[in-house]
Amino acid sequence: MSRTYGAAMGDGRALLAQAGIATADRDALRLLAHAAGWDVGRLSIELGQAIPPDTDTQFQQLLAQRAAGRPVAKITGWRDFWAGRFRVTDDVLDPRPDTETLVEAALARPFLRVLDLGTGTGCIVLSLLAERPGATGVGCDISAAALDVARANAADHGLTARVTFVHSDWFSDIEGQFDLVVSNPPYIALAEMPDLAVEVRNHDPFGALSDGGDGLGAYRSIAAGIIRVLRPSGALIVEIGPSQAGAVVELFQQAGLTEIAVLPDLDGRDRVVCAKAP
Ligand SMILES: C[S@@+](CC[C@H](N)C(=O)[O-])C[C@H]1O[C@@H](n2cnc3c(N)ncnc32)[C@H](O)[C@@H]1O
Repeated sequence: MSRTYGAAMGDGRALLAQAGIATADRDALRLLAHAAGWDVGRLSIELGQAIPPDTDTQFQQLLAQRAAGRPVAKITGWRDFWAGRFRVTDDVLDPRPDTETLVEAALARPFLRVLDLGTGTGCIVLSLLAERPGATGVGCDISAAALDVARANAADHGLTARVTFVHSDWFSDIEGQFDLVVSNPPYIALAEMPDLAVEVRNHDPFGALSDGGDGLGAYRSIAAGIIRVLRPSGALIVEIGPSQAGAVVELFQQAGLTEIAVLPDLDGRDRVVCAKAP
């Protein structure tokens, strides 16, 4: 009898587990679904069917990449985030579920015009615009390659007419004012980089992870320029590392922002700081 999807799946799971991949089960399933051109739900009901040899060959190639430490999203080229699917390349941060805490906090506010600083894939600003049909936005990044990915994601989501992507060093090329400014900036201190999982350190761009200093450089830049771009009573919402709440709150207080609050992620760790313009 020919080999089934289920048998290929079992072998793939074992191969990844042997390579020390903690999420071997889930990753083998996602990679096999990708090789088959199905979603995971369809694969689950086809496990007893024979796997075509070319699909099996492709699955083995995907498994080899994963066993070598490449994250699933960088292998398949996409990541599900909030309510959408986003293209992911080596030029952008692989969007994290933690960042959905920021999206949720932003959607609790009224806004018509939003600025996303360090947009990467565009996952934050595009998720916000998809939920607010009347709103428009700007996403900026210092990486031109990341902006190309964000533009492709905007086109995929039918949002090109409502978003502009700008090459900018934080606020340097940003014009106008916004009633909401959001950012998930690089916040890993240089000294903490060696502690990151290899699949993060070797596969997300350095400039998306770290400021090359103490991890607070981006928040200092944001605090220094925020008053110019926020409309009166507009909101600033940023993602932070779990130990950075105190320092970021202080920077925002010094910048003259008010109503500063720290929100936890689903694991109860400090994850988001919200503030308002006077
Ligand atoms: C942590 S990633 C966040 C990407 C995306 N917003 C997300 O949440 O998945 C930080 C982003 O900030 C960008 N960045 C780093 N330094 C920057 C700067 N000086 N000005 C603008 N963007 C910058 C990086 O290129 C990267 O895309």
